[in-house]
Amino acid sequence: MNSSGDRFSSKIGFVLAAAGSAVGIGNLVGFPVAATKNGGGAFLLLYLFFVVAICLPLMLAELALGRATRSNPLGAYTQASGGSVVWRAAGALSLITPFMIAVFYTVITVWLLGYLAIVLGGGLASLADPAYFGEFINGASVFLFLALVIGLVVLVLKAGVQDGIERASRTLMPVLFVMLLGLAAFVLTLPNALQGLKFYLTPDFSRLNLQVVNGALSQAFFSLSLGMGILVTYGSYMRERENLQTSASWVAGTDTAVALTAGLMTIPAIFAIYPDTNPQTLSDSTVGLIFSFFPKIFMALVPTTGYLLASALAFVFFSLAFIAAITSLVSIIEVPVSALKNETRSNRPTSVLLVVGAVASGAVLCALSFGQTAALTEFVQYGGQTKSLFDLLVDVFYETILPLNGLLICLLVVWRWKRANLTQQLQIGSQPTQSQESTSPPGPGSNSFLARYTHHALAWWIPAILGLVFTLTVYNKFLAA
Ligand code: PHE
Repeated sequence: MNSSGDRFSSKIGFVLAAAGSAVGIGNLVGFPVAATKNGGGAFLLLYLFFVVAICLPLMLAELALGRATRSNPLGAYTQASGGSVVWRAAGALSLITPFMIAVFYTVITVWLLGYLAIVLGGGLASLADPAYFGEFINGASVFLFLALVIGLVVLVLKAGVQDGIERASRTLMPVLFVMLLGLAAFVLTLPNALQGLKFYLTPDFSRLNLQVVNGALSQAFFSLSLGMGILVTYGSYMRERENLQTSASWVAGTDTAVALTAGLMTIPAIFAIYPDTNPQTLSDSTVGLIFSFFPKIFMALVPTTGYLLASALAFVFFSLAFIAAITSLVSIIEVPVSALKNETRSNRPTSVLLVVGAVASGAVLCALSFGQTAALTEFVQYGGQTKSLFDLLVDVFYETILPLNGLLICLLVVWRWKRANLTQQLQIGSQPTQSQESTSPPGPGSNSFLARYTHHALAWWIPAILGLVFTLTVYNKFLAA
């Protein structure tokens, strides 16, 4: 059980913290580029459909489970299933997953901080050199930036839910919104920017195929931090009287709005600099785009804006990405921290140090897997390819296990935990309260369309779809050579 100190102070505190988790580097570059390549407006509509029809019900299920059990995923799965061994194992999986994702996400966050520091030191020109990224990730400075990122995470998590996570999100998220809007407004004034908008927004339904549909769903799922135990944990920190339907809708809406707005910055920027870009040639890799392609774009601005302004713009861009990443990183590391703290009854500082120490060790191994250590670089072989430790973690935990965790949550909540418990959680905050403290108007109740839809969707079609996604991914990634 969580001590009462581990609570978000208000609805807005929760919404900003959960949005801090949801808004990550995937929103800024991965999402807009995927949309532009895969049917523009048609992809956007598909994405919106998945957010509402699949992700929102799952988010409600995770939050409800967390708040009702007041526990981390392991405790929550155990309580909700009446102590079943199988469900305890599923609970353990939903702890291992965030841990492993945290390991590789730490490495990306470290690179972002490194690029931010280099731009600040006037080194934008060197970043634009195609060989730079490879040299940077294998250089010694990575470990310095790793130490800084780890230090920051410890600082935030040790301060606790309200004074750490919530406060960091309350401060950083508004900064992110302002920077994003400012950068988008600037980019839209560049010549040819509208060309980019056309590719981003015009629907081309002929591009939609099974792979694109799967891509849109995975993007929405990852972007909303589902299947990682984060929302179960954050649910356990929510106040008793908060309406889940309103809060979850705010989180999903904010995350989606940031993703859509990022497209108004990213895509027009690409077309302003390279008006003849064929969207199909853009990389699928968010990492490749952020660290190799974008520095080139900022350098290409130099003849128009001068080096100083181009560097300033690059600085804003990398700050945005860093804020997006660090707030997500903190949220995902909080999951094992909360579990260790609850399950072993240790105090927060001890749990934070142990978990962050373990994540940092994993991140060091990952950082060595890009060529520095052969055994980690050529770590395993499957699907006809040799993969590094970093690639293995991305393939197994991000691509494969996440949809499985989503599937398990549906089965647990609907078939083991039972409908009445979910209904009860969805009902809270739908009646006007007598309490002086509550200022929010009553939200939808358990009879709302969303609540009724959530019950049906969680029972039938969401698990069916996630089961299919999981099976196809296992086949494509690991079995087909
Ligand atoms: N929503 C995050 C993103 O888009 C996903 C995430 C959350 C990743 C937490 C890591 C940790 O990047």
